[in-house]
Amino acid sequence: MAVSIRINNLRIGKKEFLERMSRFSLTPVEWYGQAYKSDAESLGKSLEYQLGYFYIQSLSSMVPVLVLDPKPGDMVLDMAAAPGSKSTQCAMHMEDKGVVVANDVSYMRLKSLASHVDRLGITSIAMTNFDGQRFPSVAPFSKILLDAPCSSMGSRKNILPHSEGRIRSLAKLQKSLLLRGFDLLAPAGTLVYSTCTTTVEENEQVIENLLSKRDNAKVEKLQLPFAFEKGLGGNSEVDSDVCRFTLDESFFIAKITKK
Ligand SMILES: C[S@@+](CC[C@H](N)C(=O)[O-])C[C@H]1O[C@@H](n2cnc3c(N)ncnc32)[C@H](O)[C@@H]1O
Repeated sequence: MAVSIRINNLRIGKKEFLERMSRFSLTPVEWYGQAYKSDAESLGKSLEYQLGYFYIQSLSSMVPVLVLDPKPGDMVLDMAAAPGSKSTQCAMHMEDKGVVVANDVSYMRLKSLASHVDRLGITSIAMTNFDGQRFPSVAPFSKILLDAPCSSMGSRKNILPHSEGRIRSLAKLQKSLLLRGFDLLAPAGTLVYSTCTTTVEENEQVIENLLSKRDNAKVEKLQLPFAFEKGLGGNSEVDSDVCRFTLDESFFIAKITKK
């Protein structure tokens, strides 16, 4: 199966990386200078992987952080962060300056996040272990990512069908997490909501719920460097601004700002 990787600029420059990895066939991803595709399944067993020169991540999963666009010095909250693909990507875009609070309710999954942080040599990530629905009001965050727990129906790894009851309970959790995330957002801040699933209940309806409960929430129109589809929820105000796309996985993304 083809894999995709993201170079870790904090450990190595692109030129040296490509020289060191020349034994593998790597194809650049046209819309993201740090990303490469490969058929080499042994990438994860290479010395360069252990040295933290790159992270293995699906292409679709790289997109939410591009939409969030964290910059050096930002104060970012990643509400459901483990195993850390997007927290580590944020830290890389921030040149390891500023703070990424990488939160997850699962202590076990935070352990794997910790091992990636260590391998990649990142110092700007602080890990927390809260239920995101009750994440404390420590400080307002200028950027928040909610890569929500979901039924993963767009994921390559998903093999189990989900019952309607399971989707209903995930949607309830997602709505609650998004409301909490929005309340933690600084004025004029940006929150990106993403899932790797396809159901309207876990995507468009979660955004509609936020808009119905918070007058100062605004969904921003998205521009992506590849073809994507609009929302499917039947609410034209939301559908025209959110996006659904399938690269190697199917993802939903909404960008929300606080007026
Ligand atoms: C889609 S995964 C996140 C993947 C991660 N963002 C990444 O890119 O590596 C969803 C995560 O949500 C976490 N989670 C589930 N319920 C949560 C809650 N109430 N609060 C915080 N995290 C939660 C799960 O433990 C899981 O790690």
